[in-house]
Amino acid sequence: MKLRSIELAMPGAADAAAFMTDIWGMAPADVVGNIHYLRGSGSFPYLVALEESADSYVRSTTFVCTADRLEQLKRAVSAAGLTAAPATSDDLGGGHGIIVELAEGELLRFLVDAAEVAPIEGHDLPVKLTHVVFNSADAEATGHLVQDALGFRVSDRTKGMVFVRCNDSHHSTAFARAGFASLNHIAFEMEDLDAVMRGIGRLRDQDMAPAWGPGRHGPGANVFAYFIAPFGPVIEFSTAVNKVPDDYQAGAPEDWTWPEKRIDQWGMSDKDFGGLRAAEEKFRHRRDWEAAPLDA
Ligand SMILES: [Fe+2]
Repeated sequence: MKLRSIELAMPGAADAAAFMTDIWGMAPADVVGNIHYLRGSGSFPYLVALEESADSYVRSTTFVCTADRLEQLKRAVSAAGLTAAPATSDDLGGGHGIIVELAEGELLRFLVDAAEVAPIEGHDLPVKLTHVVFNSADAEATGHLVQDALGFRVSDRTKGMVFVRCNDSHHSTAFARAGFASLNHIAFEMEDLDAVMRGIGRLRDQDMAPAWGPGRHGPGANVFAYFIAPFGPVIEFSTAVNKVPDDYQAGAPEDWTWPEKRIDQWGMSDKDFGGLRAAEEKFRHRRDWEAAPLDA
């Protein structure tokens, strides 16, 4: 199972796509109708789809998996009684599978037979998405739900987050203890620490300072820099998160504490709590499909 892409809708999708390619550092993949597809250097046909719409919202977050894993998912999702439907992807790469709505409206799509593409060169291109994080009213409940219904594993719990993995990367998603449901942020995996730093430089050239970072997180140990995108959401330059063994023991909030005044390993940057919180409220989940039986 791998995190592949996120599909967003918003006004001004063309301008957003221009920012993501010209400044953030993605490569254009294609424009199909009113949807702009943006890719990284890796083998996924796109990482971000930006669809023109009157409102800003998350259409889906897409994972790719094996046919066996999809069959397990169908059974577990049906048993959990979640709202779900078979899904055939009209997005780049195609593929088919299911789309699932979690308890707080998060929309996760799982595809098989989705095409991949040849990697491309570009030392400032993101490689792929490393994680997509959601805000939750009850992050603990959602952590249990994705373990039971999706076979994901909780990697760590902190005061602020429940980190969840779907492969050996420490987390591909996480649920923030925010008190409301929305997109928290989208993290782009850069080739290395230098590529993260060059990204910060590109944004500084546009008079955009990080809302938080550079720094190095505790759980996952990734280097990060968060920005508030001009089109609304919080986006992150990140190095890869740590790999963890199958028998990794999930940490508890008391295992992940910081010295006073410290909220990352380096302690070199301020965090714009208010700006980040406002940006996190911009993209809610919106389901535009009806539940249908999964042919498990
Ligand atoms: Fe992150």
